[in-house]
Amino acid sequence: MTDPLIDAARAAQKKAYAPYSKFLVGAALEADDGRVFTGCNVENASYGLTTCAERVAIGTAVAAGARKVRRVVVVTDASPPSAPCGACRQVLAEFGRDMIVEAVGPGGSRRWKLAELLPDSFGPEDLT
Ligand code: THU
Repeated sequence: MTDPLIDAARAAQKKAYAPYSKFLVGAALEADDGRVFTGCNVENASYGLTTCAERVAIGTAVAAGARKVRRVVVVTDASPPSAPCGACRQVLAEFGRDMIVEAVGPGGSRRWKLAELLPDSFGPEDLT
């Protein structure tokens, strides 16, 4: 069965700019209104300025007015499929604590609730 979010993340992975690590990442988010936003990793000769695919996708979504994300798919060529980095988990949590995270690789996929990947996290509600 095809999953449009996985297809979108695969397409985004093809756009990854990762000449240094050669680790190509694509991400696709589904917002609560059904819209899909994508991102890829964007590396830089000044390595520390690299932006992960998930954060590019979040920036794209927020700039388009989305505020809540239901699900995110991250596609890499890693086996087992690699989960989002810690920084991206925190950034994702800002826009949906009940988010489903799916990591897809060549040999299969893994799925979590974001709260499993980032338990007891600090979030917007802590500031109210
Ligand atoms: N990367 C992502 O895009 N997302 C992650 O969650 C982990 C790492 C990218 C950053 C860098 O371009 C490459 O993967 C290797 O770390």
